[in-house]
Amino acid sequence: MPEEPRKIYIFDTTLRDGEQSPGVSLNLKEKLEIAHQLARLGVDVIEAGFPIASLGDFEAVRAVAAEVEGPVIAGLARTNERDIDRAWEALQVAKRPRIHVFIATSDIHLKYKLRMSREQVLEAVRKGVSLAKSYCEDVEFSPEDASRSDLDFLCQVLETAIACGATVVNIPDTVGYATPQEFGQLIKQIRQRVAGNERVQISVHCHNDLGLAVANSLAAIENGATQIEGTINGIGERAGNTALEELIMALYTRRYYYNCRTAIVTQEIYRTSKLVSRLTGMPVQYNKAIVGKNAFTHEAGIHQDGVLKERTTYEIMNPAMIGLIQDNIYLGKHSGRHALRQRLEQLGFKLNEAELDRAFARFKNLADRKKEISDRDLEAIVAHEVKDIPEKFVLEHIHISTGNRVVPTATIGLRLNGTLREEAACGEGPVDAAFNAIDKATGIPVCLKSYHLSAVTGGKDAVGEVTVKVEYNNKVYIGRGISTDILEASARAYLNAVNKVVYELGDEVLAAKPVEAGAAK
Ligand code: KIV
Ligand code: ZN
Repeated sequence: MPEEPRKIYIFDTTLRDGEQSPGVSLNLKEKLEIAHQLARLGVDVIEAGFPIASLGDFEAVRAVAAEVEGPVIAGLARTNERDIDRAWEALQVAKRPRIHVFIATSDIHLKYKLRMSREQVLEAVRKGVSLAKSYCEDVEFSPEDASRSDLDFLCQVLETAIACGATVVNIPDTVGYATPQEFGQLIKQIRQRVAGNERVQISVHCHNDLGLAVANSLAAIENGATQIEGTINGIGERAGNTALEELIMALYTRRYYYNCRTAIVTQEIYRTSKLVSRLTGMPVQYNKAIVGKNAFTHEAGIHQDGVLKERTTYEIMNPAMIGLIQDNIYLGKHSGRHALRQRLEQLGFKLNEAELDRAFARFKNLADRKKEISDRDLEAIVAHEVKDIPEKFVLEHIHISTGNRVVPTATIGLRLNGTLREEAACGEGPVDAAFNAIDKATGIPVCLKSYHLSAVTGGKDAVGEVTVKVEYNNKVYIGRGISTDILEASARAYLNAVNKVVYELGDEVLAAKPVEAGAAK
């Protein structure tokens, strides 16, 4: 009889390590939306944040702990009392809470960062894990920079953590330095040498500085790791973390090799990837494994011919397994509300009546300008226009005059609580003019940090999707907008970012007096 496949637990840290990606900042609503989707994806653990880091992090962990059912909800803490108390304060409402305690163990971190001796670190582990355990049955312990730590000391630290009640010990390759062979051996050594390791889960947390995070995680599994930490699309500090979609599909596609299984609903992978990319404003590279735009596209004639004759000639995975529906059914201006609802349900969107009304109005508006509305267009409509934060400023109209021998000028009409605000402004180009006019009309001087334009589908009448990052009060806000007219999409994206400022900071920001055009740029 072949051995039963071993279960590998999936620990998602998109909301914690992933949110540490440069330029990424998610609001509470966005974090909750991602957490709910992670629960649908079937991850075993969601690390919702680092509660001591900020009030926003604390509130997000508490909200995820209160609302999201199914996975264990974890919160990060250093070994000190304040961190652990705060983590527990945020987590205690969860049905299945976990406190994740960490401290660095490599000599380089002890000497330059912590300025602590090994004995002091051991004492901190004893105190921190014991305190966490006094609050919560499920405690994870991570020796930061484990892969560059002295092996004897690392084993001593892990034994201490287990003796004090840790239920999971996690081995981070914090700086992405390890190679697969080496990292696999490290896990093997830990399995052989650490007293009590058979009572706990052995987890790994790999960073991707050398592009080896997934390979290192797989090597760890081959050597006995039972939990893998990572993020959706591999986002995270610097070059990011283990891309969970890659690891999961490697385990699934090569299941006869690894003889492991996960509880992941793989059909939710594509949707989760899209959601994370959209909310974090981090585009997925075209050739990214599993979820990249080109991952299932065959360009060479010989390949296309092969796939048409038999898909498996050039495809090792069925795109349907990750929830990528390729049989695009096009809707058009004669399609009704019922057809729209049906197609959206097939795409996995369950909308309430009010949301469906908004989706239908936007769909009709788009169908007047574009002959065929594809699944990708529908996804963009729902994601940007229906499931977003409430709009305080609503774009009423926009007029832009531009050309190579005129000064670009924009006139904008915005509605705020029913009142129309109209402003005009000039700019270096038409987009700059539109943003300057919006600055004047909203009176909120945000500073544009980045602008990204892409086409949702191909063709001359493609829907343009604009993502902007703006800064206000030292915080970055991401705005998105879509339209067949890229200037309108740009204005919508910018306004969406301003609406997020208002959503987060409340109506007080509206009291700010109108600004001079481009004042914050
Ligand atoms: O990379 C790292 O070491 C971490 C720990 C806090 C687990 O993120
Ligand atoms: Zn990390």
